Amino acid sequence: MLKRTHNCGQLRLKDVGKKVTLAGWVHSYRDHGGLVFIDLRDKEGLTQLVFNPEKQPEAHKSARTARCEWVIAAKGVVQPRSEGMANPKLPTGQIEVAVQQLEVLNISKTPPFEIGEADKINEELRLANRYIDLRRHKMQENLRIRHRVTKVVRDHFDRLGFLEIETPMLAKSTPEGARDFLVPSRLHKNCFYALPQSPQLFKQILMVSGVDKYFQIVRCFRDEDPRADRQAEFTQIDVEMSFVDSNDVIGVHENLLAKIWNKILGVDVKAPMRRMTYKEAMDNYGTDRPDLRFDMKLKDISDIAKMSTFEVFTKAIEAGGVVKGLCVAGGSEKYTRSDIEKTLTEFVKDYGAKGLMWAKVKKENDKFVLVGGLAKFFGDEQIQQIAKRFSSKEGDLLLLIADGEKNANKALAPLRCKLAKDLKLYDEKAFEFVWIVEFPLLEWNEDQKRYDSLHHPFTSPVPEDLEKLESDPVNIRSQAYDIVVNGAEIGGGSIRIHKPKVQQKVFELLKISRKQAQQRFGFFLRALEYGAPPHGGIALGLDRIIMLLTGTENIRDVIAFPKTQRGQCLLTDAPSEVDQRQLDELNLRTQRHSHAVEQPPEEQKQ
Ligand code: AMO
Repeated sequence: MLKRTHNCGQLRLKDVGKKVTLAGWVHSYRDHGGLVFIDLRDKEGLTQLVFNPEKQPEAHKSARTARCEWVIAAKGVVQPRSEGMANPKLPTGQIEVAVQQLEVLNISKTPPFEIGEADKINEELRLANRYIDLRRHKMQENLRIRHRVTKVVRDHFDRLGFLEIETPMLAKSTPEGARDFLVPSRLHKNCFYALPQSPQLFKQILMVSGVDKYFQIVRCFRDEDPRADRQAEFTQIDVEMSFVDSNDVIGVHENLLAKIWNKILGVDVKAPMRRMTYKEAMDNYGTDRPDLRFDMKLKDISDIAKMSTFEVFTKAIEAGGVVKGLCVAGGSEKYTRSDIEKTLTEFVKDYGAKGLMWAKVKKENDKFVLVGGLAKFFGDEQIQQIAKRFSSKEGDLLLLIADGEKNANKALAPLRCKLAKDLKLYDEKAFEFVWIVEFPLLEWNEDQKRYDSLHHPFTSPVPEDLEKLESDPVNIRSQAYDIVVNGAEIGGGSIRIHKPKVQQKVFELLKISRKQAQQRFGFFLRALEYGAPPHGGIALGLDRIIMLLTGTENIRDVIAFPKTQRGQCLLTDAPSEVDQRQLDELNLRTQRHSHAVEQPPEEQKQ
């Protein structure tokens, strides 16, 4: 077999005259009757091979039979491309290799899609033939970036004295919010392991064990519906540290993120990064994941709207709700009445809003007036106040929602992002990092009549608020922090509870009884009783970081073998049925099989 001397992205004009051997896949071929050209591809790039029938008849004859995705090795001499034939878009575009010897290493069936056309191909076909899809330059680049990021991460933590420690994949079911993936045990009939939703409790136990600084690049499993930025199986950069406060954890990670952005994109991210309280984020952006590449803050105008004659507003406010909205600079021109009443209204309705109220801002005799929609419900003074609240200018468009604050935010936050995207209000290459801090510890769950943790039940309250555990639980602030970039939550963590009594109290508020707590977390509560140090940590979502670095909105583009929206691996056809023998060994019976048992045999049915 011909052994390669160079890769397909390497040769330049300075190499002209060298004898080289390249190996790779036939990306494309052109047979001009005389010369045959093949673009040869490997993971590093493309190089043009040229076959001359007069000079090398054997190699030329063989080249004429080659087809896309055949695997070949070619030996020849580097030469400059002829006048006018250089390709400035390719790093190797100035040269070509005049082939003297061609070896076909393997042939290929006609691929189900052309590599160069894959962007236009249905994703399911790409996932089912992932080995071909991954040959694309973009996908190879994504894999490479992912590798380089994990290298930066490991070097960063190693330098700071962290240990990478693996934690079990076959773990105890301690649901953390999402549904667990369960794995039946053969040796312990009717018992199940769970695949970890995160190593949360193990990493805290490592702190009790005196490890002090732990990290792990670790797979986590959550049986929830996948979304554009969510997979059932995903990867965290998981970290825990002892004897630290939240500033220590934040510091280590903003330096890490700055290093990653610098090494991968050459972008300078300023550390320390901006911080924003949860309240500020919810008030101004309607979400704890604000996209700060553009302004367009939300404003609450309930105090003004309650003076209006519009019942939708006054009733919503009387019921404890708000009138909240945003002002689209220059939006009067950009959106017609039908755009607003159809497209934008449908958009917010998809997020649960009942409607979208609007008015266009004009100026007459130095005073603001509202036109259309809401105009008739407001007096002159109120209109001036509204314009002031939104810092409006002539030609702006006001969009308002009247509802409970939570519902209004739920629709306004995505509306804000949609408008900014439609109107191209931000630089797509910019990155705006922000730490969200001072989350409430708990949220009241009206359906279940209990509190829910905003993060997870192991998050510590801020020490000053500990006394409110009994008297005023909703106003307890937690020591949690999330890191958000361009509206994507790429990580979250907290200082943990390290005293068993506080942990027990929080379980009570979450309506986790002592018995349930013992059943689910007994091992962990016991560990806390043996000298748990103060500790805290974080987990960064590796897949989401790679999405930002590669500029994709599809999480599947950054995972070599991802699952579909329906949780399937189209390459291997998982999940799939298993043999009866396997089920018997596990003492399991599936519904299909139990129905089969219950149904009468075929002959009796007839
Ligand atoms: P959390 O659940 O916030 O925290 O997860 C941390 C980060 O992991 C990423 N992430 C996901 N990425 C892709 N697909 C998913 N289904 C998915 N779920 C989460 C997000 C998120 O910010 N144990 C705690 C961390 C801690 O407190 O230390 C935890 O798992 O980027």
